[in-house]
Amino acid sequence: MWGQHCQHAPASTATLERVLNAYRPSVIVEIGSLFGGITAYIGTWAFLNGRAHVLSLDMVPCMTVDVRDFLGRIGVVYWYEDAWKPDTVAKVFEYIMGRRMDGRALIYCDGGDKTRELALYSKTLDAGDVIGCHDYTTEVAIGGAAEALGDGWQPILDIEQVRAQRLLQMFWEKKG
Ligand SMILES: C[S@@+](CC[C@H](N)C(=O)[O-])C[C@H]1O[C@@H](n2cnc3c(N)ncnc32)[C@H](O)[C@@H]1O
Repeated sequence: MWGQHCQHAPASTATLERVLNAYRPSVIVEIGSLFGGITAYIGTWAFLNGRAHVLSLDMVPCMTVDVRDFLGRIGVVYWYEDAWKPDTVAKVFEYIMGRRMDGRALIYCDGGDKTRELALYSKTLDAGDVIGCHDYTTEVAIGGAAEALGDGWQPILDIEQVRAQRLLQMFWEKKG
């Protein structure tokens, strides 16, 4: 993406963009930046669509200086943090609360254990917010994701389409 390695297939990137267009979050958090490929895509969407706040975090600093510079110029915030630490979850919660205004938040789980991240980060979200994960149906089991989220989360994508197009992705909206 924008010349950076990205671990998303084009169809998955397009699906992510469809979800962003439909829900228009005011705060977006990516868990697992890696080289910043999909971060650059999300950040560019935010820059072009009302400047939503974008935070991406990773426990391994993989991004080049050029990518960090590009992301900084389009307003993406990058944290070098372990997503599984309670302190990080609390800091992300504060980040969202301080910036969401009346808008929605979207958290995209693409770190080292997406099921665990769904469990940890879904707790930071409110009704109308969206959580998603990559590697759904491969690394993240359908039942495992449902258990991690608990009650009140409605899948946004049609599972048959996810399977047929090998999107390896799912998003859920929190119901009130
Ligand atoms: C699958 S890659 C992310 C791919 C990236 N989102 C993309 O689409 O190109 C997973 C990333 O999660 C990071 N990671 C693993 N465990 C983590 C943790 N506990 N906290 C933060 N990042 C973690 C890894 O360092 C790695 O960069």
